[in-house]
Amino acid sequence: MMAGENLNLWYRDAVFYELPVRSFYDSNGDGVGDFQGLRLKMGYLSDLGVDCIWLLPFYDSPLKDDGYDISDYYSVHPDYGTVDDFQECVEEAHKRGIRVIADLVMNHVSDQHPWFQEARKDRNSPRRDWFVWSDTDKEFQQARIIFTDTEKSNWTWDHVAKQYYWHRFYSSQPDLNYWNPDVRTEMMNVIRFWLKRGLDGFRCDAVPYLYEKEGTNCENLPETHQFFKEVRRMIDKEFPGTILLAEANQWPTEAKAYFGNEDEFHMAFNFPLMPRIFIAVAKEDRVPIVDIIKQTLPIPPTCDWGIFLRNHDELTLEMVTDEERDFMFKEYAKNPKMRLNMGIRRRLSPLLDNDRRLIELLHAILFSVPGSPILYYGDEIGMGDNIYLGDRNGVRTPMQWSPDRNAGFSKADPESLCNPVIVNPNYHYEAVNAEAESRLPTSLLNWVKSMIKIRKKYNTVLGRGEIEFFENVDRRALVFLKTFENNYMLCVYNLSRKPVALQLDLSRFAGWTPVEVQTESRFPPIGELPYFFTMSRHSFFWFKLEPDGSDGSDGSSGE
Ligand code: NOJ
Repeated sequence: MMAGENLNLWYRDAVFYELPVRSFYDSNGDGVGDFQGLRLKMGYLSDLGVDCIWLLPFYDSPLKDDGYDISDYYSVHPDYGTVDDFQECVEEAHKRGIRVIADLVMNHVSDQHPWFQEARKDRNSPRRDWFVWSDTDKEFQQARIIFTDTEKSNWTWDHVAKQYYWHRFYSSQPDLNYWNPDVRTEMMNVIRFWLKRGLDGFRCDAVPYLYEKEGTNCENLPETHQFFKEVRRMIDKEFPGTILLAEANQWPTEAKAYFGNEDEFHMAFNFPLMPRIFIAVAKEDRVPIVDIIKQTLPIPPTCDWGIFLRNHDELTLEMVTDEERDFMFKEYAKNPKMRLNMGIRRRLSPLLDNDRRLIELLHAILFSVPGSPILYYGDEIGMGDNIYLGDRNGVRTPMQWSPDRNAGFSKADPESLCNPVIVNPNYHYEAVNAEAESRLPTSLLNWVKSMIKIRKKYNTVLGRGEIEFFENVDRRALVFLKTFENNYMLCVYNLSRKPVALQLDLSRFAGWTPVEVQTESRFPPIGELPYFFTMSRHSFFWFKLEPDGSDGSDGSSGE
């Protein structure tokens, strides 16, 4: 934890930034990113203005699932450095006022993990019961398969153990058995180990699946909630100020349950919202966004949603209807190579045809709807993807730092890079890179930076404010008011490809003035009659509403 702070709700005001150490910056020229590399790039992240980094798994691993298959919880993958390098990097972040959370993969391990190796070899080994075994592959039939493209069953026959073992993901990732108290104790020790070394919390992977029970779909079982409440009690006591963020790809009711009575997770990803932002702009209709936000509220005051547009996985389409999924595939994944399992393995800019206005519109929505925004590395510069790489590697290519060799990511021979850099002409690293964009005032990078600043300046009203939708306007417009104490922010978005004329009933603010916050332009005062304005395609306004005679200063905490 960072010294001198008692703001334990820091995550409610934070902008998060997700990154893989592997693809971020290679400091030793072996073609793979590392912790010393990330440490060297901390200045970039602090300049961007992010408050918290989320590190993808960096533990030792055979990397069959990019590190989500851990073979030693207490180590750093040798490609990325050592535990000391990790600590130095976290200290550097803290010096700059940036917090660091990391992925914690509790549900499963790698089949190379010594625990599994011991378990499979000896029925009488105490490790045997750390995993879920069966003589048949017929148990827990109601549990769905998640990696539908590669796995035919959640059971795999192990010829050494002479039994089937249970796995919710790849067959190389056997699930741990949480009914066994030693597994739970061990996981508590893993948590302590990393929090003692400076982490500010965890993004907890695959939380719904910890326990299995016959006759259920083996998701969100009461015992899973019970276990996380124990984890929460422990961290609150031993590491106050650290947080737990749930990866529970679930419908709103089940996802909200992970907040408990403010005694479980501090945050949970809002999976149902994300695809609906894409649906809304494609359909030019705000209803999918409005409906889902209403379903995801209210939540307890010390909890928050983690909201995102893209991440390191495919754009998952599990939390939409069949029609919505077909629609998303038709709109956003015309080439079958773009699809993976139940999702679309593309980055933000290519998904939006590299349309700067749409990219800005989606970011603006992200920065103003309820929740803390989570950016995915490279999206702030508009990086492209490579759908010809396997699995989800196409959205995990090296960060594009400069127009130099290997996009400035590494001094290694290009053939030895962990993933090839993007050379598609529309996204080529010679043009799309942090250095070039930092020099161009109108670049996407500078725009994102300015939006993060604005978001922080109006953190209370934009981040924590109550949301109230205007539902009597043209469906192509998304309009809402955010209120925090006496601060009001009116957010207006044109989701359409065409201009839209709007009339808003703002009469309760008669005499007040809307001030557009990107440019601080004062608009005509509000009267009793409908307030008119026109919006060009895919544009937005954030208006701070100022009472008559106001000196124009910002009433919120901010800078
Ligand atoms: C969710 C992670 O985001 C994904 O990348 C991983 O493959 C699965 N969990 C399994 O750990």
